[in-house]
Amino acid sequence: MTQKTFELVDQSNDRKMTLPVRAGTIGPSVVDIAKLNKELGVFTYDPGFGMTAATESRITYIDGDAGVLLYRGYPVEQLAEKSTFMEVAYLLLHSELPTRKQLDEFIGNIRHHTMINESLLRFFHGFHYDAHPMAMVSAVIASMSAFYHDSMDIYNPRHREIFAHRIIAKIATIAAAAHKHSLGQPHVYPRNDLDYCSNLLHMLYAVPCEPYEIDPVAAQALDLLFILHADHEQNASTSTVRLAGSTGANPYAAVAAGVSALWGPAHGGANEAVLSMLEQIGTVDNIPKFLAQAKDKSSHVRLMGFGHRVYKNFDPRAKIIRETCHKVLSRLGRSDNPLFELALRLEEIALKDEYFVARKLYPNVDFYSGIIYSAIGIPRSMFTVMFAIARTVGWVAHWQEMIGDPAMRIGRPRQLYTGPARREYTSIAKRA
Ligand code: ACO
Repeated sequence: MTQKTFELVDQSNDRKMTLPVRAGTIGPSVVDIAKLNKELGVFTYDPGFGMTAATESRITYIDGDAGVLLYRGYPVEQLAEKSTFMEVAYLLLHSELPTRKQLDEFIGNIRHHTMINESLLRFFHGFHYDAHPMAMVSAVIASMSAFYHDSMDIYNPRHREIFAHRIIAKIATIAAAAHKHSLGQPHVYPRNDLDYCSNLLHMLYAVPCEPYEIDPVAAQALDLLFILHADHEQNASTSTVRLAGSTGANPYAAVAAGVSALWGPAHGGANEAVLSMLEQIGTVDNIPKFLAQAKDKSSHVRLMGFGHRVYKNFDPRAKIIRETCHKVLSRLGRSDNPLFELALRLEEIALKDEYFVARKLYPNVDFYSGIIYSAIGIPRSMFTVMFAIARTVGWVAHWQEMIGDPAMRIGRPRQLYTGPARREYTSIAKRA
């Protein structure tokens, strides 16, 4: 509903335009510039989309100054404490918390799809043993579009629902298969009697020659991390899924694009980079030297796991994960984890440093998550894959929201052209 207007004055041409202002439920309003070019002949310039709301959404709300994160209105702290990853997945996809019957049915639907086609399994043999698991996961998910292209009508709500169940179930199986391929071990088939995270641990760690006992501490920690990573409104990977999906592309291909976008160290790849950074720093004595490098713009070094485009106070997920680190390490009998100690000191020192204070740089979700993953035995190269499994729920929820919106249009940003103006072709013989 339009409540206010915004006056834009073009002084050079003595023109002005009244733009409608649209208000959300909470958070800042947006100026609707849809008619800007038609009326004033200009576009807006916003590198990195820092000021641009590309869509209307009802899924997740962030207040970056107050450190608030809500999934469908529910604070992430409450969901982390009281809910489960499967319940949160239902919430994100269906807008409301499920009844017991709805949740059981949803979990049953996901379990029904945990196996992957044997032909897909053979794809892994094409990869070298040391291929990064994110590369394998992205490629195999993209290949799923070849398996489900004909039966995937994106405008059919039932097809969309089956896609949602399939991808949420199968990404865990694909992720585990990538890990097994890296180890040279046989693929472990899913066990549908287990909950989502226990089954993932089973597929990651079980071997055919001896029994594998699932550690409930590890399964619980994973479930919590998955809740915290499940969605984060229009982040880079979600926007990638939306953009790819807006062309009408097969949704498995759109999710594969999201996996690729997530892999970068400025986004989901930061969890892997944080552990490498902590190892590189090594001891508390080396922290000042490292921070000096991170502050030096010519070094290209950044304090990984610090800073966020939206959070300018604290990342509520980082707070929960830091507390969980303490609990998980003590329950596993590893309270004296040197990397965790180093991370705590690094956070403390950075938060007193004028450079980080002035720029409002705080630990983000990835600063501590790798320490938990490590403690429960997840190899470093799999950290971002774990993130991708959880974020698949968010990607699917956003894709569903976009395709179900009658106002959907292909995503197509504009540009400010600064290349040569029109010029005539000269034949090669005449070029100097
Ligand atoms: N270390 C050192 N300096 C930093 C850092 C950092 N981690 N993050 C931002 N800065 C500085 C920038 O150099 C810039 O300084 P300047 O104003 O003097 O030029 C200022 O802080 C603002 O930073 P931008 O890069 O403009 O912020 P932006 O919103 O574009 O980037 C990002 C956000 C990518 C998260 C950035 O903070 C970063 O690279 N952090 C490290 C990587 C990381 O942890 N990524 C995970 C993010 S959470 C997620 O995606 C799951």
